[in-house]
Amino acid sequence: MPGSRPLLASRASSDTSGDRDVLEEHALLTGERTQRAETAPRTWKFWREIGLFVWAVVATAAVIILAVVYQNHTDTKPSRPHPAGKRNLIFMVSDGMGPTSLSLTRSFMQFQNGKPFSEQLVIDQHLIGQSRTRSSSSLITDSAAGATAFSCGKKSYNGAISVTPDHEPCGTVLEAAKRANYMTGLVVTTRITDATPACFAAHVNMRQEEDRIAEQMVGDYPLGRVVDLMLGGGRCHFLPNSSVLNSCRADNRDVVALAKQKGYNYIDNRDDFDKLRKGAGLKLPMLGLFADTDVPYEIDRRHETDVYPSLKEMAVTALKALSEASRNSDKGYFVMIEGSRIDHAGHHNDPAAQVHEVLAYDETIAAVLEFIKNEETETIMVSTSDHETGGLATARQLHTTYPEYVWYPSPLANASFSAERMALRYLQYLTSEPTNDQKHNFIADELQDGLGIFDATDDEINNLVKTPATALYQYADMVSRRSQTGWSSHGHSGADVNIYSSNPKVAAALVGNHENTEVGEFLRTYLDVDVDAVTKELREQGTNLKVLNHEGEEVSWMGKIPEDGERLDGQNHLTYGGDFRKRHLLHGPACDCGL
Ligand SMILES: *[C@@H]1O[C@H](CO)[C@@H](O)[C@H](O)[C@H]1NC(C)=O
Ligand SMILES: *[C@@H]1O[C@H](CO)[C@@H](O)[C@H](O)[C@H]1NC(C)=O
Ligand SMILES: [Zn+2]
Repeated sequence: MPGSRPLLASRASSDTSGDRDVLEEHALLTGERTQRAETAPRTWKFWREIGLFVWAVVATAAVIILAVVYQNHTDTKPSRPHPAGKRNLIFMVSDGMGPTSLSLTRSFMQFQNGKPFSEQLVIDQHLIGQSRTRSSSSLITDSAAGATAFSCGKKSYNGAISVTPDHEPCGTVLEAAKRANYMTGLVVTTRITDATPACFAAHVNMRQEEDRIAEQMVGDYPLGRVVDLMLGGGRCHFLPNSSVLNSCRADNRDVVALAKQKGYNYIDNRDDFDKLRKGAGLKLPMLGLFADTDVPYEIDRRHETDVYPSLKEMAVTALKALSEASRNSDKGYFVMIEGSRIDHAGHHNDPAAQVHEVLAYDETIAAVLEFIKNEETETIMVSTSDHETGGLATARQLHTTYPEYVWYPSPLANASFSAERMALRYLQYLTSEPTNDQKHNFIADELQDGLGIFDATDDEINNLVKTPATALYQYADMVSRRSQTGWSSHGHSGADVNIYSSNPKVAAALVGNHENTEVGEFLRTYLDVDVDAVTKELREQGTNLKVLNHEGEEVSWMGKIPEDGERLDGQNHLTYGGDFRKRHLLHGPACDCGL
């Protein structure tokens, strides 16, 4: 891979950082702000607001303390996140990846590769801080509120796609970057209309409105086309419902045709992806959708590399294309790259699928860092998660007796497929209407071939025969129990998540423990873009703007407002509401309901 990349003869970046140091030294000596600080007063406000004490001390003390002292310490002071001149921002989101996902995956990697316990993942080597994840409506966020914190820098309610709790649109860092002439991109392994990517280029009151999100993302909304490059899944929301097998739209609108009208080049398969020649042959703007819904989990995709590109392949393709397209501009690029399905593996409580998702993310991080090394424009990578999923634990008490301190990665290594794929294969088999004995044999074989489980009990197999509807959870649970991996939920949790960066000095504002909205603040500050101006433009252009829904009724362009009033203010989620007993009312007193 590195060999295929042109060597950049003269590295401008060192010159740029040299200029920066001169500027900063000047500022320190004279007490004047640098040019950057003058043109972006919000930066100062930002720093004060988040109370990044160290930086503030360095900046103000500069006026008083002797220059000599500073010259001796210039290498320890954090650089300003605001170099004069061109810059690129690669924002990476590991959806649903909490700290335990890393412990799980690291141990798995060591086991599988025969590495010592000191061996780290690539991402481990770039840890800089943690993010607190709560939304405005709950201590446990969803991906919509989580990504709104990144895109708008604002807390909102679970389900909000870049709208505030009062249902007004808030401008996003991507939209502001486009207005400032940056090139922009979104790369995901889920539907491109799913909450995380949607929050950068769409505004709707409910994340479920993916049909509307698709239209907005290709430019059918008040700002016009703002995304230069989209790669991922989610084709079904772009195809009219007349395409019966492949569409999941409620209406007959052809959003691929709409995208083409807006100027997009469109591709939808691996062969055409390969023709992009890792980005060298990619013509912007580009919409590339490689799956009807989600790109398969990496654990399954690795058997189908001729059908689906990997996250890493899509990421390096996007970086190359955006870098080339901005080469002669005085503005760089902003791209959001998401390891989308770490979250899904958490929802499925599937540890084997999860470790492969995290490893694929780690490989992507490695490729991004390599790309940055060869990028002539100053570039930073910041990576974080929107929330943890599953309440994952690298421990599980299987009996009432006090547990042994053990956790086994080997059952994860035995699995060749995800529980999702195993369940799908079972449901497909059921269409042949087998007898119970046949089902029993099929499942026993499948467990050995697909999950490497040779000690399945009759109870386990009979449960799969009896309740195929929950086969996915049953398969995942069989792997989890054997590895003694614990899960406390099929949903999200309120855990803090990690922040990583390629450059802790430039990302000094994110060192330590922060609110997720501070990640959003950092993104706009680093790019030096005016998100508030975009908010204003959206609100002016969008006032009274109506669109037709699929029933032909006029509705707000941001769609329906959720009826559930508690979405607006999370105070009612802060006190105990008797859920414990409700659960038994629903499922009966015999239900162990996770207790
Ligand atoms: C397809 O969408 C049209 C509206 O655009 C609607 O009238 C029709 O019922 C839909 N067909 C199906 C099969 O959902
Ligand atoms: C993993 O697979 C091997 C055979 O490939 C088998 O001997 C071993 O028992 C399996 N492990 C588990 C936990 O089932
Ligand atoms: Zn989720």
